[in-house]
Amino acid sequence: MYYNWKENTNTEELKVVCNLIKNGEIVIFPTETVYGIGANAFDEKAVGKIFMAKGRPSNNPLIVHIADKQKIYEIAKDITEVEQKLIDHFMPGPFTLILKKTDKIPNIVSAGLDTVGIRMPDNVIARGIITFSGVPIAAPSANVSGKPSGTMVEDIRRELEGKVSAIVDGGESQIGLESTVVKVIDEIPCILRPGAITPEQIEEVIGIVDFGNGIFAPVEEDEKVESPGVKYKHYAPNKPAQLVYSEDEKDLIFGINRMIKELKGDVVVLGFDEHKEQIVVSEHRFICLGSKDNLKEIAQNIYSALRKSDELLGELVIIEGVKRDGLGIAIMNRLLRSCGYNYWEF
Ligand code: TXA
Ligand code: MG
Repeated sequence: MYYNWKENTNTEELKVVCNLIKNGEIVIFPTETVYGIGANAFDEKAVGKIFMAKGRPSNNPLIVHIADKQKIYEIAKDITEVEQKLIDHFMPGPFTLILKKTDKIPNIVSAGLDTVGIRMPDNVIARGIITFSGVPIAAPSANVSGKPSGTMVEDIRRELEGKVSAIVDGGESQIGLESTVVKVIDEIPCILRPGAITPEQIEEVIGIVDFGNGIFAPVEEDEKVESPGVKYKHYAPNKPAQLVYSEDEKDLIFGINRMIKELKGDVVVLGFDEHKEQIVVSEHRFICLGSKDNLKEIAQNIYSALRKSDELLGELVIIEGVKRDGLGIAIMNRLLRSCGYNYWEF
């Protein structure tokens, strides 16, 4: 069933959706980052349906969503001072903390690890569904495994309709990129996946911050990673993609135009509004990512732009990158991964 709650939550329908969760069904719902496919985190069978619907490898763990901080102490244990500080500062919000799990979390959720990722979304609909279902909700992003995360219901329906019991439409995701995933290792918060909560913000609170591997470079098959998700092909469009960046705008445009010429215009460009006139490609092959200095707008548009590129013909997708600073770190992480780390700096 499709439920339109863009304007406001329908309380009768909210009951129906929460009953589906209680009865072991899976439901697509909005959060402030991206949409999730959720199930009762305590119900192994229900969680199994999520893996089926997404075609997700069973060794990639799910994040558990809560609406009340007290729930953390039911599903996680041995919380340290640094971890508690992170909870106090960044929850609710686009932030996931990896904690030692209790036996209440089934192994299917944690993919056999002894930890669990916990997030408290800052979105009225998500919070309502979690609260009235009365259980924590395990939810990965709403997309077929390997595809960009769903940020708009139109995209999600095309990919997942028929595979879930309900789809709740809360409009376009506000942030558009998945949460910042952090694990505290030896008292140092380590960013396993960058997001809207930036390294600077974490450093401000804890005094120190570190990065896991796989954020700007691919990880080897046998390399040890803290987050299984970084091993998988991700956010990928269905044709080859090349990420380009330069500190110098003129060099960047020149480089892009040279590539376009070499490929006789048979490309798709994901670029900034300001460059539309300067990049020599036919208008219908240019997809706007937003204004070059508005990182929030770019973050919000990335996944829908990547999906749009799939609908156009072309030998290559050329994508304009941003400076790796603040939110730009998360943007570049997603773009690098969607390009399979094909990156040129002019
Ligand atoms: O914003 C978000 O985080 C969205 C919304 C729906 O909340 N969810 C999301 O889930 O992006 P998913 O499953 O697409 O990405 C979760 C990432 C994966 O890379 C996974 O490997 C990692 O978090 N992860 C989950 N549990 C973990 C754990 N116990 N240890 C290490 N990494 C974990
Ligand atoms: Mg995902």
